[in-house]
Amino acid sequence: MTKRRVLLTGGSGLLAINWACALREGWDVVLGTHLHSVDLKGVASCRLDLDDPARLESQIEQLAPDLIVNAAGLTNVDRCEADPALANLVNAELARNVAIVAARIGTGLIHISTDHLFAGDQALGSEEDVPCPLNQYARSKLLGEALVQEAGSRVLVVRTNFFGWGHAGRQSFSDWIIYSLRAGKTIPLFDDVHFTPILADVLALTAHDLAARGAAGIFNIAGDQRVSKYEFGCRLAKRFGLPEDLIRRSQMDGVQLRAPRPNDMSLTTAKTRRYLGTSLGSLDEYFEALHIQEQQGRRLELLAAVENE
Ligand SMILES: NC(=O)c1ccc[n+]([C@@H]2O[C@H](COP(=O)([O-])OP(=O)(O)OC[C@H]3O[C@@H](n4cnc5c(N)ncnc54)[C@H](OP(=O)(O)O)[C@@H]3O)[C@@H](O)[C@H]2O)c1
Repeated sequence: MTKRRVLLTGGSGLLAINWACALREGWDVVLGTHLHSVDLKGVASCRLDLDDPARLESQIEQLAPDLIVNAAGLTNVDRCEADPALANLVNAELARNVAIVAARIGTGLIHISTDHLFAGDQALGSEEDVPCPLNQYARSKLLGEALVQEAGSRVLVVRTNFFGWGHAGRQSFSDWIIYSLRAGKTIPLFDDVHFTPILADVLALTAHDLAARGAAGIFNIAGDQRVSKYEFGCRLAKRFGLPEDLIRRSQMDGVQLRAPRPNDMSLTTAKTRRYLGTSLGSLDEYFEALHIQEQQGRRLELLAAVENE
């Protein structure tokens, strides 16, 4: 039986390369790239011109995907603050271009949004809560959500925060902690910033599950446990047998940041769990899976997967 094809934009990104690994056995995965090329076993890749709607339409038509995942984004929060026009272009206008093509060719679209949309004064935000973006990254992602939903009705918008193994040019939060502690470096981690991170693989599989059941609109796909960045680091260190005493408890309040950031980004996954009738797993299960991935070679495979200029 021929496999169904999933096309990811932002193909050289942290999420897309892990998504590809999670799905490559059961799906024909194509990574759509921009400046950086990708070389991953069992996964195809090709350049996509997200900024040229006519070209993009013919490129995607030729690929004939059964599902599209828009994982392209300008993710550096300070860069978005410094260049609001670029943030809006990448996080909103290019997302709209992808959504318009998906609607025209009748393909389902999963659009990756963020957990960064709220003021951060409340825990466990739901899909119905009114966003209150604090910075340009969040404003551009919120605009992106609106534009993709305007462009097509079969769009699943996923609010999330994830971790997994990165590549040489893009460290994840968990990479930074693991590599720093392995090098014997002391690191500060905020105990006044809370989030609900999920392993990238679990995010990918859950999003596919929702899409297969026809879910559309906004869904939170996050971890079921709300933790501070400090607690995340300590529990990760423990699972990887790394020295927790190198982690220094610190606070975001009082730190001068170019872009203001929310103290609480945690999301409730109640709607997603109700829809799927299952939990999304615990942080300890994610850390265990991350550890197994490293033993099975995922860390080294991804480290070298993206061309690094
Ligand atoms: N990382 C997180 O913890 C996190 C949390 C919540 C939500 N998200 C969302 O998840 C998605 C994926 O994040 P990520 O961390 O995987 O991102 P990433 O590692 O920063 O990768 C971003 C990807 O977008 C591509 N891209 C950037 N500008 C582009 C442009 N003008 N045209 C086409 N492609 C472009 C990049 O390609 P080139 O490098 O080749 O330009 C890269 O493949 C984003 O939408 C992000 O907002 C991320």
